[in-house]
Amino acid sequence: MIKTSIPPYFHERRLKLATQNPGAAFILPGTREVLRNIDVGFPFRQETNLYYLTGYDEPDAWAILLCDPASGGAYKLVFFSRERNPEREIWDGARYGIEGATRIFGAHESYPVSELTERLPGLLKSSDKIFYRLNLNESNDRTVLSALDSVRASWGRAGKSLSVISDPQEQIGEMRLFKSASEADCLRKAAKISAQAHQTLMQETKPGMNEAEIEALFDYLCRKNGCGRMGYGSIVAGGANATCLHYHENNEPLQDGQLLLVDAAGEYDYYSADITRTFPIGKRFSQEQAELYEIVLNTQKTLIGMAKPGIRYGVLHKTACEMLTDGLIARKIVDGKRDDLLQSMMFKRFYPHGTGHYLGMEVHDTGLYLKNGESRTVEAGMVFTIEPGIYFQSYDLEVADAYRGIGIRIEDDLLITETGNENLSILAPKEISDIEALKR
Ligand code: GLY
Ligand code: MN
Ligand code: MN
Repeated sequence: MIKTSIPPYFHERRLKLATQNPGAAFILPGTREVLRNIDVGFPFRQETNLYYLTGYDEPDAWAILLCDPASGGAYKLVFFSRERNPEREIWDGARYGIEGATRIFGAHESYPVSELTERLPGLLKSSDKIFYRLNLNESNDRTVLSALDSVRASWGRAGKSLSVISDPQEQIGEMRLFKSASEADCLRKAAKISAQAHQTLMQETKPGMNEAEIEALFDYLCRKNGCGRMGYGSIVAGGANATCLHYHENNEPLQDGQLLLVDAAGEYDYYSADITRTFPIGKRFSQEQAELYEIVLNTQKTLIGMAKPGIRYGVLHKTACEMLTDGLIARKIVDGKRDDLLQSMMFKRFYPHGTGHYLGMEVHDTGLYLKNGESRTVEAGMVFTIEPGIYFQSYDLEVADAYRGIGIRIEDDLLITETGNENLSILAPKEISDIEALKR
């Protein structure tokens, strides 16, 4: 849908960057249209930093942010974008055009993208620092480097060095890490719609259905309720497929007696939830499935209780590894002394992934995890997942047969508040009694 105006926060984000970087230029290339095969394009999603700073959602654009050398946040936004094209618009839909980049998105100057190469050197010549992400796209790199070469050539024998090229990801990433009220609201909507879809899946899943049907039902529910697309490729994994962490084939029949792991969530206005639930395909958990499930659930609930301002982020993963190991020892599912098992990182055999990650405009969102070489402290406004799991491979001879081929993960999305956290995905049931009640 074509936009007619954008909220003021896009300008406020640029203002912040300009205030922090007087005299710098940010070069932000957008996503290009990419063909999947003849005449069929991959679905388009704007490059996230460009969207975060402009709200512009058409392919083949570049935004150049020129920060005034006098501190105070003044900046000039220059856009290069597609021109209007009545013939193409009959096929592909309306375009903002050059005029729309100024009128709707607040560009101070805007030009056809075909003029980028010619105009970029002039725009960059007075910037003493260039922010640009090198090495992601060769053709973009060539455009930027040749513009800088032209700038250098224009200096003749002045003896000056080229401006520093610096990666903007850390700086923009830290801004994106702390969610504003409107960003939190998008995440709340994405998580609520997705959590309700998980609940419906628990009710609808029956032996004999196919993983593909469940994935399609999840997509349908998310899109029907307001998510424009999925936040990432859904994992719909029956039985031992759940022990493959990034299983994505989603095309096998579901068998009674097995569990179904669904890691899926919708995206609402560029903000993605990330939710996993694991539940019986039939009516009830088996005893062994329930034992493992309770270990994961107890761990996850303890971690959610710990997630508040002041705690070091890395403590959550350490606690997860300890609690999962303790749970398996207590149930005599694994053998050995606690300290030895933790020291040898034996848990990696059944818990090979981390306990969570930042969440926002990308499912694995931006932001530093370490500061001065140490795990950073959790602060209000961060959003991250808590997602412990246990996965015993079918060929794992170190556990009893009944535990082999079981994969369980429980994943929620937490918005850190001043005093604790808000569980954004709370509506997806996870207590065994609640899940079994739904299945009745
Ligand atoms: N869905 C990807 C993840 O949980 O990290
Ligand atoms: Mn996750
Ligand atoms: Mn996930």
